[in-house]
Amino acid sequence: VIRPVEKRDADAWAAMRGRLWSYEDAAALAAEARAFVDGTSDGFIDVVFVAEDVAARPIGFLELSVRAFSDGCDSMPVPHVEGWFVEESARGRGVGRSLVAAAEAWSRERGYTELASDTEIENEGSRLAHASIGFEEVDRLIKFRKRL
Ligand SMILES: CC(C)(COP(=O)(O)OP(=O)(O)OC[C@H]1O[C@@H](n2cnc3c(N)ncnc32)[C@H](O)[C@@H]1OP(=O)(O)O)[C@@H](O)C(=O)NCCC(=O)NCCS
Repeated sequence: VIRPVEKRDADAWAAMRGRLWSYEDAAALAAEARAFVDGTSDGFIDVVFVAEDVAARPIGFLELSVRAFSDGCDSMPVPHVEGWFVEESARGRGVGRSLVAAAEAWSRERGYTELASDTEIENEGSRLAHASIGFEEVDRLIKFRKRL
């Protein structure tokens, strides 16, 4: 089952966020999740879908934001996949695909004509999964920083 995140999902969703972004501060990730379900977040994320198994346990999530623009997309603004995760034990069975389908439906209902996403350059599994479900690669970036 794929459905919008609810208050009761906050802890499970936060734990999955921690597994996806293990280099981030777990408490901050959990606080963001709690703020979103409480309706007090900064508004960056527009919708979150949760996948649950037959025992109604959350096993994946997808976070979507509507960005002003996204490199390689023609339409502005454009919905962008900000987080996409399926528990390791549940991968390879179509859960990730179903989460993206929910994001596509949400976007189409609101008149959007493209869905954007990105991944770390070394995340080959994610690149292949994106390609398998119909994303085309449109750009590769090198990010720079100069301390001021
Ligand atoms: C990426 C991820 C969400 C995919 O979830 P999933 O439930 O395994 O995906 P699905 O089973 O729906 O697979 C969808 C398609 O992608 C392909 N795919 C998924 N993972 C793949 C991998 N590691 N290597 C190659 N192909 C892969 C599947 O074969 C399937 O294609 P097919 O239907 O043509 O066979 C999941 O692997 C994950 O959480 N990875 C770790 C976190 C991550 O990297 N997230 C993306 C960051 S942008």
